[in-house]
Amino acid sequence: MLSKYFKPALLKSIADKIGTPTYVYSEAVFLKQVRAYKKAFAGLDPLFCYAMKANSTGALCALAAKEGWGADVVSGGELHRALRAGFKPGKIIFSGVGKTPEELALALKAGILFINAESFEEVLELERVAAKLNLRAPVSLRINPDVDPHTHKYISTGLLGSKFGVSFDEALKIYIYAAESRHLKPVGAQFHIGSQVHSAAPYALAAGRLAAFMVKLASRGVNLKYADVGGGWGVKEGGEMADPSSLAKAVGGVFGGTGLKLVLEPGRSVAAPCGLLLASVIYRKTGGKKNFIIADAAMNDLVRPALYGAKHPAALIGRGRGPAKRWDIVGPVCESGDFLAEGVTLPEPAPGQLLAVYSAGAYGFSMSSQYNSRPRAAEALLTGPASWRLIRRRETYADLVAAEVKP
Ligand code: LLP
Repeated sequence: MLSKYFKPALLKSIADKIGTPTYVYSEAVFLKQVRAYKKAFAGLDPLFCYAMKANSTGALCALAAKEGWGADVVSGGELHRALRAGFKPGKIIFSGVGKTPEELALALKAGILFINAESFEEVLELERVAAKLNLRAPVSLRINPDVDPHTHKYISTGLLGSKFGVSFDEALKIYIYAAESRHLKPVGAQFHIGSQVHSAAPYALAAGRLAAFMVKLASRGVNLKYADVGGGWGVKEGGEMADPSSLAKAVGGVFGGTGLKLVLEPGRSVAAPCGLLLASVIYRKTGGKKNFIIADAAMNDLVRPALYGAKHPAALIGRGRGPAKRWDIVGPVCESGDFLAEGVTLPEPAPGQLLAVYSAGAYGFSMSSQYNSRPRAAEALLTGPASWRLIRRRETYADLVAAEVKP
């Protein structure tokens, strides 16, 4: 269980010093996941580009950068954060369906490895931007392999009809155009079939289709260097990372020995297990047949239960008082969808008692907001069995209005 990495005494000392709600991350768990990837893919020597959208906090990104990883960014803001965290420009790739000309220019000026373009219009824009800067833009295309990853519909991206990528037919036309352009250099091809994918089978299918397409492309004179199989490897909430060796086998079976450089973009599987959301109980109450724990963390801090029906395990820190009961853990936000966990069996907590919501390191803080004018949570990093440091201070009321013109 993940709880063994987060000792109650340490969580208490964090709450005493900086309060709650606070995201607490374990450096050891983050590095464990990074190294598990390296080990599973050792024979393939891929480039790992950490998908920063999962958690773009500088201290965690810096850990990935120090391990030699690159970054997958999806906005100018993430590019800014990636460079600040120490990722080498030559290991940064840029994904997303709607990159603006300004963002493309920033990426080209920074000298990133390649841009994963998602439409012919984007490639034409990239060509214009590159021409203005008088350089050749390294471009890869995100191709939609039409493969069902069997995941939540909001995070399923590999079927035709989703807004992502281009079809193989469209890709062929774009590569042939790009190969003849003075300002474009086709270097790679990519797919990303979805997120929370628990089986390697859809990756094998998509990789097979991509490889066949790359052979066809080579016969038309376009030889690519990178085969990018995206991210999406699933992790059960509360569990440690699903072992990526079956994923390595699936994509290695297709691309191993081809001479292509394999690129992966893992996000959640690295960041989710390393973090928990630490909250305090404010009140308890009963409504109808339900028992509620009202905590000081809410959907603005962790939106995944409300948005995807995600079930994050929750536990009290320290002992409860009464016999175990079923509880809904909810926050102070004025919406019925504001819950962190539903129907969890726990002893009765005391007001002020700490509770932890696990597997919250990915898409937790990065999706948090100031909804209900709630300052965003603080973030702390456990750096050893008995040591931690603040990596992002709690926002203040002044932060809430910092960008606003005074009424
Ligand atoms: N690469 C691309 C192009 C992506 O769109 C994504 C995630 C990743 C890599 C990383 O996927 P991961 O390894 O983290 O599954 N907010 C949702 C997840 C959205 C994922 C979007 N794309 C959630 O909380 O479940």
